[in-house]
Amino acid sequence: MKLIARGLNANRRWFMKNALAVAGATGAGTRLLADEHSGRLNKGDAAMLRFAAAAEILESDFWIQYNELGGIPDSEVPGGSGNPAYTAALQNLDSDFPQYIHDNTDDEITHFTFLNAYLKSKGAAPADLEQFRTLMGSTATGSSGKLRLTNLMQLTLDTSWWTRYRSSANNPDLDPSFIFPQAVPGLASGQFTAIPRTDADLSPPKHLQAIANTAGFHMPTIEQGGNSLYPSMAQRASSAEVLRILLSIGPTETMHFQTWSDKAGNAVSTPLAPLTDPTNGLTFPDLNSTPFGGETYQTNLIMPEPCPFLSRSLPVCSIIRPTETKGVAMGVVKFLTAMGLFMGQPKPFFELLQDLAAEADNAKRHGGGGDD
Ligand SMILES: [Fe+2]
Ligand SMILES: [Fe+2]
Repeated sequence: MKLIARGLNANRRWFMKNALAVAGATGAGTRLLADEHSGRLNKGDAAMLRFAAAAEILESDFWIQYNELGGIPDSEVPGGSGNPAYTAALQNLDSDFPQYIHDNTDDEITHFTFLNAYLKSKGAAPADLEQFRTLMGSTATGSSGKLRLTNLMQLTLDTSWWTRYRSSANNPDLDPSFIFPQAVPGLASGQFTAIPRTDADLSPPKHLQAIANTAGFHMPTIEQGGNSLYPSMAQRASSAEVLRILLSIGPTETMHFQTWSDKAGNAVSTPLAPLTDPTNGLTFPDLNSTPFGGETYQTNLIMPEPCPFLSRSLPVCSIIRPTETKGVAMGVVKFLTAMGLFMGQPKPFFELLQDLAAEADNAKRHGGGGDD
């Protein structure tokens, strides 16, 4: 717990320093900022935004890795120089894949940058994970070789969102013990890389395609999490402006999710599927053929199927699910940890994330009437 304590103390030191700086500032820009953003965040609102910022920092870190190898490095998303063979395998899923990677990466960078700047503008401590930037990433052609916060090379993916969003009968909020089937059961057991670890991963072709397909499923698996996190937290926002922030960022995660779920469909339909990685047996089935197919698996069903919402006595509704607010931040930490995204990080990293999540989950809605 020592490192955690140091991290929190650093946050507190930052808070004191910034509060003093704001109090003593006389510059016109600072006065404008103080006028426009008068009032402080309550503890819960700050904790929810800080957790969101931490999640966005982690998202940015792995999206940057994708962009270095399979995106479009440029002034908006600098770093890396592209890996042509990996990029070509991603483009088998969609010729626009590099552009989509670039734009998703750009979005995540702006999410954490905005959230941290907003926290600072309110005299609250931002999220800072830099002390944990210690992981070696890919050394394949195109990688910048920078140290990373996240690990894309040992992923275990829960692809049950595929059937969860196609189910008209079950909602995880109403049926917490219902098990939604996996789209790609192979990805749920074992550890798989979503990027070429070295140039040795660039062949044989079916191995490289399986790596690209793993990325193709990792992307929506992550984004559906953000898609649930924001509406789940928004229910406990006290300030209308914090509510506005959560309601304005959240749906961009939804736009990412739906785009990527469409691309993932191309990894599990003809002509790419079925495909088996000859090096490890990982299989991407054709989900449009028996024993799959139908509403549970059909690959072009990318709009959310209406399902029960709040109560089965009400009509079904097309919605984001789950949106249960209780414990959502800790749920996200568990989900990302189980995915293997933090493989190689030390215990204090997990303790810090759990601490940020616990504070966010403790946030209570105050003011504005209603159920606070
Ligand atoms: Fe984001
Ligand atoms: Fe995202």
